[in-house]
Amino acid sequence: MNVKHYAVAGILALGAAVPVVASAADAEAGKAKAAVCAACHGQNGVAQIPTYPNLAGQNEQYLVSSIKAYKNKQRTGGQAAIMQGQAAALSDTDIANLAAYFASLPAGGGQ
Ligand code: HEC
Repeated sequence: MNVKHYAVAGILALGAAVPVVASAADAEAGKAKAAVCAACHGQNGVAQIPTYPNLAGQNEQYLVSSIKAYKNKQRTGGQAAIMQGQAAALSDTDIANLAAYFASLPAGGGQ
């Protein structure tokens, strides 16, 4: 097998992995869970409070890792304590679904 074959095998392996990751996240279920988030991050993922972050259109993987970092209390300082409380009760599935939902929204509320 030459280098080219390894590259093809790698791409095939990635291709096989992607649908598994995508099917794990359910943006519709995330939307239902996101009602509580709207109080601070806005109905459309754009925060009404200037010191709170927008979530709409953010990278999905970043949303997953940041919510997990609050849940695990690895992310501290700033206003992190507020989010630690929010993230504490979320399961990995909830987090994946919420991330898929917020990532799917237009950044800046579509304006
Ligand atoms: C009581 C207000 C409040 C609620 C409710 C809330 N958040 Fe937050 N959220 C914040 C604040 C404040 C920050 C900034 C924390 C910091 O300084 O690290 C934040 C940060 C975040 C971040 C990191 C954003 C970034 O750019 O790094 C994510 C992701 C997030 N929240 C998701 C959620 C989700 C999902 C929910 C609903 C399950 C939720 N939040 C509910 C106040 C809230």
